[in-house]
Amino acid sequence: MKNIGIIGAGHVGLVTAAGFSKLGNKVICCDNDKEKIKNLKNLLMPFYEPGLEEIVEEGVEKNLLIFTDSIYEVVENSEIIFIAVGTPPTEEGKADLSYVENVTVEIAKALTKIRNEKKGEKIYRLIVEKSTVPVLTSEWVKKTLQLLTPTGIEFDIAANPEFLREGSAINDFFYPYRIVIGVETERGKKIFEEIYKPINCPKIFTDIRSAELIKHASNSFLALKISYINAIANICEKVGADVEVVAEGMGLDKRIGKEFLKAGVGYGGSCFPKDVSAFINICEEFGYSFNLLKEVQKINHQQRELIIKKAKDLLWNLKEKTISIFGLSFKPNTDDIRESPAIDVINLLKKEKAILKCHDPKAIENMKKIFPDIFYSEDPYEASREAHLLIFLTEWEAFKTLDFKRIKEGMKLPYIIDGRNFLDFKSLKDLGFIYRGIGRKNE
Ligand code: UGA
Repeated sequence: MKNIGIIGAGHVGLVTAAGFSKLGNKVICCDNDKEKIKNLKNLLMPFYEPGLEEIVEEGVEKNLLIFTDSIYEVVENSEIIFIAVGTPPTEEGKADLSYVENVTVEIAKALTKIRNEKKGEKIYRLIVEKSTVPVLTSEWVKKTLQLLTPTGIEFDIAANPEFLREGSAINDFFYPYRIVIGVETERGKKIFEEIYKPINCPKIFTDIRSAELIKHASNSFLALKISYINAIANICEKVGADVEVVAEGMGLDKRIGKEFLKAGVGYGGSCFPKDVSAFINICEEFGYSFNLLKEVQKINHQQRELIIKKAKDLLWNLKEKTISIFGLSFKPNTDDIRESPAIDVINLLKKEKAILKCHDPKAIENMKKIFPDIFYSEDPYEASREAHLLIFLTEWEAFKTLDFKRIKEGMKLPYIIDGRNFLDFKSLKDLGFIYRGIGRKNE
């Protein structure tokens, strides 16, 4: 059992805190959002993540998981401190590292205070960068700590990027494909070996810069895979082939792999758009123009526009046509709408002056904050009533079992655009719908 501190109770921080407490460690999780901490103490989660609430509850009950708004408390009581604060995009698309910097300064202040209070005692901390950051960020963390802490404090710096996916984050914590650890000392390495011992997967120990790069390179590669299959989907549409079959045929080659070959409206979320952009930027700073990734971004953007083009192909003019949008979150099993394709599609449809009706199993409240003036309904049948067109942008399981006969009876025109190629278009056609997928042979 180790004393672990996590700074930042966002998706990465909170899941990591819950996961480490479930493994039997004593964890203190801190956030500067006092309201969030108050809610967490009352077992109210700041976001929806399947299975998280139960683990947090268990950790709090066993007194293995504590929430605080004080970084000092974390630094005082934890041998290992994970920095898991946000690195949001700046206007130029770089990673904003000011939160990481602020936290580093706070850690240094806390260490200085502890030094003054515990004179003569050995003080050691392992400080770990967990958020997704550009290469060389940990170097800055190290320099800052060296500069701001008095002598007599020992610390190691490490980079241990997180690879969890929203919606399956708990599972990803306990069963990851790999754990990547960039650490410079044997002392730091031993601590990681201990805390990750219960997790059975390949563990890669490397230098800090390589660890930081692995994260950006992995997310960008996955984004590239998605844009690649979307480009293939476009050529499929032009020649009358079916991208679903093409993807299957490609994916059976183990060197390609079948995952992340789902064509659709493109990637969204708090990670891929931001990370691809930050990676392009940091490469630029070092004199390398990563044009391949710029094309990945372009294709992703075009996929949003493709939905509007398909809508126009069906309806001619969109002005004052009622269009229902099902699926507002950036992917299923989350209420997260950050960089969601739905935001782009709604904006484009608003420009066309379409009348919008939106539905989502979890994300309505979040979307209301961005578009307060649109009609929303938790009832899919109400949300599709009088619609000329129904567009699916997220492949929620619940959408597959909708009563499409009832939906069709309520609609003005029987048009469906499936932006995720997840509906059974044969049965929809049997019901009389006119269906359009992405890169799918569906005429
Ligand atoms: C992603 C990575 O998958 C995680 O490994 C990583 O830890 C995380 O970013 C992060 O950096 O924190 P996440 O953003 O939660 O995780 O979501 P994904 O499941 O990867 O999906 C991203 C987007 O790609 C979604 O909009 C999804 O709909 C889209 N996607 C995914 C496709 O369009 N096609 C696919 O074949 C797969």
